Amino acid sequence: MRAFVIAVAVLLGALATAEAQYTLQTEYSGNTFFNGFTFFTGSDPTHGFVDYVDASTASSQGLTQVRNGVVYIFADNTTVASSAGRRSVRITSNQSYNSGLFLFDVNHVPFGCGTWPALWTVGPNWPNSGEIDIFEGVNTQATDLMTLHTQQGCTMPASRSQTGTTVTSNCWINAPGQSSNQGCGVTNTQPTSYGDNLNNAGGGVYATLWNSNGISIWWFQRSAIPSDIRRTPDANFPFGSNCPSSFFVNHQIVVDLTFCGDWAGNVYSQFNCPGSSCQNYVQYNPSAFSDAYWSINSFKVYQPGTPTTTTSTSKTTTTTKATTTSTTATSSPTSTLVCNAANNGYYYCMNSGVSQAYEICNNGAWVSGACGPGTVCWTSGNSIVCNYP
Ligand SMILES: *[C@@H]1O[C@H](CO)[C@@H](O)[C@H](O)[C@H]1NC(C)=O
Ligand SMILES: *[C@@H]1O[C@H](CO)[C@@H](O)[C@H](O)[C@H]1NC(C)=O
Repeated sequence: MRAFVIAVAVLLGALATAEAQYTLQTEYSGNTFFNGFTFFTGSDPTHGFVDYVDASTASSQGLTQVRNGVVYIFADNTTVASSAGRRSVRITSNQSYNSGLFLFDVNHVPFGCGTWPALWTVGPNWPNSGEIDIFEGVNTQATDLMTLHTQQGCTMPASRSQTGTTVTSNCWINAPGQSSNQGCGVTNTQPTSYGDNLNNAGGGVYATLWNSNGISIWWFQRSAIPSDIRRTPDANFPFGSNCPSSFFVNHQIVVDLTFCGDWAGNVYSQFNCPGSSCQNYVQYNPSAFSDAYWSINSFKVYQPGTPTTTTSTSKTTTTTKATTTSTTATSSPTSTLVCNAANNGYYYCMNSGVSQAYEICNNGAWVSGACGPGTVCWTSGNSIVCNYP
């Protein structure tokens, strides 16, 4: 039994894009899911009617749960909200990323009048390091809206390879002729990409590929998850002279559910929702938020390269730089592996198979951690597994 999974490197022969094979870098799932995240408890930057609670409050009030390996994040659906807003959760990954293939496997997403759920990534010093909204919507919106938000100087070409519908093409938050902070948005045309339809389809996987060519987002409903990613993306945001890749730096993963506020509240009357006041509805109808929850199987982040655990030696000799680094990590990490942007997120065990201690490369510095009670750390590629000895 594997009780404390921190991160696992696996052979992913099947998971490949046209350009490259990918190796698992970080996995967020199960009982350790929340360990990789920090709970945001400030006031909502988007002015929502929400009271973001800390980790211990969320856990003690049942807003965060892990059942049978599935992660749940609820909003309070039992009490009339105080003037602070309805209790909810907003979490940010400790680890930050500068590229990668991100697979967000969800069973259920929050939905309903007054809600504004989002699954996104964002860099420091907003908007200078960019924002990528992978899953976002408000009230009873029909399908997902995928958006980039940037500083001035990032626009999307009129013609690009995507199945979604372009809403706006200037990613700059203050672009003339667009709503404030509208960014460059693309609407998903798949009915199961949001809300009740997504939930009734049993969820699926949001995939985001971020590399030097740009950012692509796909939605695969559960019955149509492919073994590799080859089809045209739902949204495609190419980099180049139109939009420098340097506008996207050190992104952390964010999951949140707010209510009303700058978007859901401002357009509340445009949906067939009860009453005329979003805030009034959210405050006094707790049971209306029983469907406003996330159910998450896993978030996985992959980087290009074949795993070092491959049995083929010929493969090892033709590996990429990333693989070479991870090979070093496996053999003697302490003496040779430097923690820098290129290996951000790499884990290694202090004494593989013997001690509980591990280290993770976090923004240029090794940060130590320990496996759960009764387990020891095992090095696996550039990643680790905490397991019973
Ligand atoms: C993530 O950050 C939070 C708060 O900064 C910290 O309490 C937690 O231990 C961190 N998690 C890991 C795995 O380092
Ligand atoms: C709150 O939501 C959960 C999950 O949907 C549900 O099981 C529960 O019955 C709800 N509670 C109330 C009081 O509506």
